[in-house]
Amino acid sequence: IRDNVEAASRYVANYIIDRVNHFRPTPEHPFVLGLPTGSSPMGVYKILVQKYKAGEVSFRNVVTFNMDEYIGLPRDQEQSYHTFMWKNFFSHVDVLPSNVHILNGNAPNLEAECIEYEQAIKAAGGIDLFLAGIGEDGHIAFNEPGSSLASRTRVKTLAYDTIVANSRFFDDDIERVPRMALTVGVQTVLEAREVIAIVLGPRKALALQRCVEEPVNHMWTLSSLQMHPHAMTVCDENATGEL
Ligand code: GLP
Repeated sequence: IRDNVEAASRYVANYIIDRVNHFRPTPEHPFVLGLPTGSSPMGVYKILVQKYKAGEVSFRNVVTFNMDEYIGLPRDQEQSYHTFMWKNFFSHVDVLPSNVHILNGNAPNLEAECIEYEQAIKAAGGIDLFLAGIGEDGHIAFNEPGSSLASRTRVKTLAYDTIVANSRFFDDDIERVPRMALTVGVQTVLEAREVIAIVLGPRKALALQRCVEEPVNHMWTLSSLQMHPHAMTVCDENATGEL
């Protein structure tokens, strides 16, 4: 628990930098970083970019896999997670474009896209550190309430609550929010060697309480991290109101 958003973001950014800098990458096993979108990781990306510009970290030997992507949004549209990632992070650091992986929500065969994504993660040596945000309903990636805790990368229909929550990125017009997304599964996240969930603000307070104080269950999929040997939740004071 950190005092505020800035302190929580700084903690997470420093943690990632420490991991990247102490890792000895080989061609067979580069550092593999799983990344989220949303407002929660924005501060982390900002600090990572600052530290990259200050020469404190390089992403040259880092391979990334994003958690999710909307289905059917053109990738150059502002709300696509593809655009979000390039705008807020990738274009400001030295990551190699060929090392960036983001699910293609416009793939002609979405099932094949999901299978290939899982294969690409495996081929890269598995994810070393997965950073995640959560939805107000406790979803991790787009693993909505009711998702199997054994789920893998797949097509997912968004919960109505998620469509409403995410409409703030679509001029508050819920009609414009895609109904479906591609997402890594709960099991895909659990297989990462380390997982950090960043949980910020009072809107996440109920989810945080359900996910850390209640038993593991598929209605609040972040609760699955209770089963992970190296998982950590980093939150600000405002998110702790229900603990
Ligand atoms: C979307 C994403 C999640 C993210 C969540 C929270 O639903 N699929 O991965 O964690 O938004 O977003 P925010 O951090 O903006 O509250």
